[in-house]
Amino acid sequence: LSSIRVDVSGVEPGTQLTVKWLGKPVFVRHRTGAEIQEAQEQDAEGVDALPDPLARNSNLNADAPATDANRVMPSPEGEAPGAWIVQMGVCTHLGCVPLGDAGDFGGWFCPCHGSHYDLAGRIRKGPAPENLPVPPAEWTDASTIKLG
Ligand code: FES
Repeated sequence: LSSIRVDVSGVEPGTQLTVKWLGKPVFVRHRTGAEIQEAQEQDAEGVDALPDPLARNSNLNADAPATDANRVMPSPEGEAPGAWIVQMGVCTHLGCVPLGDAGDFGGWFCPCHGSHYDLAGRIRKGPAPENLPVPPAEWTDASTIKLG
């Protein structure tokens, strides 16, 4: 598996970086405190209320539930839990690239057929069947994420 290292030092809270990995876009988002809180509040409904109750996180077991905590990176020292989320920028319906900061749930919106993902990349409305997949990812230092 080929891996790449991504320097995220310039990614301010409330913004995201899109990189290419294995020919596909990967979204690296630095979430604000308000975004983290909103994503965690959506957990309160329970994962079984979600269209896809599974985390779809390659770094966890396949049956891990789609809580916000199971969708995000561990945080580097000094950052709030849930500050970073990394996911494939590929809609799980037919593979279009969703737009950031968009849709009814404040996360991503796929304009091809109208799928709305929340701030944890979980599908909430529209035809996409699954949450955006979380690729193998880990920190190699406080500002570098290794994909793959
Ligand atoms: Fe995204 Fe169809 S490809 S909604």
